[in-house]
Amino acid sequence: MLHGKTIILGVSSSIAAYKACEVVSQLKKLGADVWVTMTKESANLVSPLTFRTLSGNPVIQNLFSEELSNIPVPHISLTQKADLMVIAPCGANILGKLAGGIADDALTTMFLASKAKKVLAPAMNSKMWKNPIVFQNVEKLKVSGYLFIGPEEGMLACGDEDIGRMSEPADIVKNIISLLIPNQDLAGRHILVTAGRTQEAIDPVRYISNRSSGKMGYALARAARERGASVTLVSGPSNTNAPLDIKPVKVESAGGMLEAVLDYYNNADALIMAAAVSDYIPTVVNKKRKLKKNKNNLTLELKPATDILKQVSIQKGRKGRILVGFALETDNLIKNAQKKLKAKDLDLIVANDNSTFDADSIKYSILHRGGEVENFPLQPKNTAAHTIIDRTATLF
Ligand code: CTP
Repeated sequence: MLHGKTIILGVSSSIAAYKACEVVSQLKKLGADVWVTMTKESANLVSPLTFRTLSGNPVIQNLFSEELSNIPVPHISLTQKADLMVIAPCGANILGKLAGGIADDALTTMFLASKAKKVLAPAMNSKMWKNPIVFQNVEKLKVSGYLFIGPEEGMLACGDEDIGRMSEPADIVKNIISLLIPNQDLAGRHILVTAGRTQEAIDPVRYISNRSSGKMGYALARAARERGASVTLVSGPSNTNAPLDIKPVKVESAGGMLEAVLDYYNNADALIMAAAVSDYIPTVVNKKRKLKKNKNNLTLELKPATDILKQVSIQKGRKGRILVGFALETDNLIKNAQKKLKAKDLDLIVANDNSTFDADSIKYSILHRGGEVENFPLQPKNTAAHTIIDRTATLF
């Protein structure tokens, strides 16, 4: 099942370190290439030789050891080929170091140097887990995209029954599998996603636009793709790299985006409009000559742009398609989003305030056509994208 996947397992100092042996063993049985990195203290609890034998790879305790001399810059080359990195058990000290950006040993250096999916399975005394500083570190790491498995309630090393036990190896492995092999529930579906901003030319060198980064739309396209959908990504200008296996249909203006959406709409099962489309466009565009300045005030006349969602939902007809919009608001978030949901005849609308407009994370609510409102805490846009795709998928 995990053949061809590389997983790096970090082991930190906790009595639960012995359970990490079972995690390695199960991952190996599933065909993964597993590398273990240990903190110095954890090697007092379980011998590196055990992990070496179970994983079949050298155990990384020191990035400059002789054993790794044939791997150039191991914290970069190894972590670059990792599909997933997990720390199990992860103690409070490691949580604090990762949250603070401290890389003072092999394990923390490898985790901070990697862009792979990262999972933490905490294990510590309940008093430490409930410490507000640890709590803040956990929140910080969640916002940065780290995923947490556990901790669970149960008998702790001190004899107390409370929260702090590392999750069972089987649960950790189950979560790793679902992260590496996402559900293919959208296979056979075609999802049309718009992303980025639009730019409305004033003259050959100037335009009107907004601050949208395209991150949310690109994350949605990636999430739909990961779940087996064929995806058309219509993108206005954006500062974000498109998912590797999706070639965006590039547009510039609201008019260009409308045309592209109409082109692909007929074959789509769902349209997700994450793009920040201009509401107004200049009535006159000086296509050839730059506007010259003079001492007078300049008045630009703007006319309304076509509302793409309205155009497709009301004039072109739904024909069974799912329509998802976004509502970016500075005030009365839910009320305004509800109005847009109705006016544009949508199935779902994702409401977010402008504080997370061009950020990596988003605090948002999903409003359903039937009136249900789901509120979500600040979370990475990739995580939010999967939730939005989940809700869309349930409507097919
Ligand atoms: N949208 C669209 N065509 C436009 C403007 C917006 O399809 N010309 C879509 C956006 O992609 C988004 C939804 O409509 O999914 C709501 O966009 P938003 O900018 O929040 O609201 P507007 O309808 O433009 O209203 P306002 O700017 O007054 O809040």
